[in-house]
Amino acid sequence: MKRVGILTSGGDCQGLNASIRGVAKTLYEEFGDEVEIYGIQNGYYGLIHGKYKKMTKSDFSGILTVGGTILGTSRQPFKMMRVEEDNVDKVKNMKDNYKKMGLDCLVILGGNGTHKSANMLSEEGLNVVTLPKTIDNDVWGTDMTFGFQSACDLATQVIDCIHTTATSHGRVFIVEVMGHKVGWLNLYAGIAGGADIILLPEIPYDIDKLADVINKREAAGKSFSIIAVAEGAVSKEEAKMKKKEFKAERAAMPYPSVSYKIAKELGDKTGHEIRVTVPGHFQRGGSPCSYDRVLCTRFGAAAARLIKNNQYGYMVALQNNKIVPVPLGEVAGKLKKVPVDCDEILAARSIGISFGD
Ligand code: F6P
Repeated sequence: MKRVGILTSGGDCQGLNASIRGVAKTLYEEFGDEVEIYGIQNGYYGLIHGKYKKMTKSDFSGILTVGGTILGTSRQPFKMMRVEEDNVDKVKNMKDNYKKMGLDCLVILGGNGTHKSANMLSEEGLNVVTLPKTIDNDVWGTDMTFGFQSACDLATQVIDCIHTTATSHGRVFIVEVMGHKVGWLNLYAGIAGGADIILLPEIPYDIDKLADVINKREAAGKSFSIIAVAEGAVSKEEAKMKKKEFKAERAAMPYPSVSYKIAKELGDKTGHEIRVTVPGHFQRGGSPCSYDRVLCTRFGAAAARLIKNNQYGYMVALQNNKIVPVPLGEVAGKLKKVPVDCDEILAARSIGISFGD
């Protein structure tokens, strides 16, 4: 009998259920009645506190297109994993509950923070296989994370809709796109949505350059402009700051997010009243797009095959359109940023999109 635990951790995204289904269906195909799957609830929290249930085959049917996660999720910061809280030794509890369930393996679906904890559990001797989940596409070792393409479609839709109202009114609009500390989502949505300016954390912006672009567009008879701003965008001045100084500056900022700061500064420089749209968590909601449904199925099936071969301590990854196992130790603690000379940026620059630098 093979006993497999599954958990989803960190911010949710489209495709979590499609991936869970891919793992489970492959396990049932491979092992028949000789597999038991335990659904661990709300991420590492459930593993720490013993919240899990034995799943049945039917739990994994009809969930391919369903958004969110049937297992629930939560954020459990890696830096607190070895810190006792309320007399709870989290690492010990996780190991104890793994043993209590009699698991042969733990399948973990998550992003960067999740992978640090997954690697820690692997180093602690648990059998772990992971799948790269996040709309941010910032997990090292994989060309693509699931959730990214679906979120990209939604963020693009937002920019499309803003385009029509911006054109009607001849206005300057900022659309703030998620992505945490990297600019993948904004880069793709910005190009797909035809933004005039795209601001990424990887390319610090100069507010005067932004004003120049808006003014030049106006002089050329373009009455509207669309600026796609990554939530992690930073100015050239901010990029020079030490981490502590930057944090203090942002904490003292009288705006809810960087887009409002840019809107105010750019408004003052250009005389435009600049509108800001922040779609926020909308971007990670709803059904996975067809690309993600396929990717999740491939990731899920590959994870189950690793379990069948008793290959543990790996993340399944997409590299050059092949699914490959990448050792967790290589993934944990690294961030996949947008290379500033990547083809997408070069193409965007070629057609006249400004990056505000
Ligand atoms: O990592 C996914 C993500 O949606 C980021 O793009 C965003 O910065 C963050 O999560 C939001 O976190 P929370 O769901 O905790 O508000």
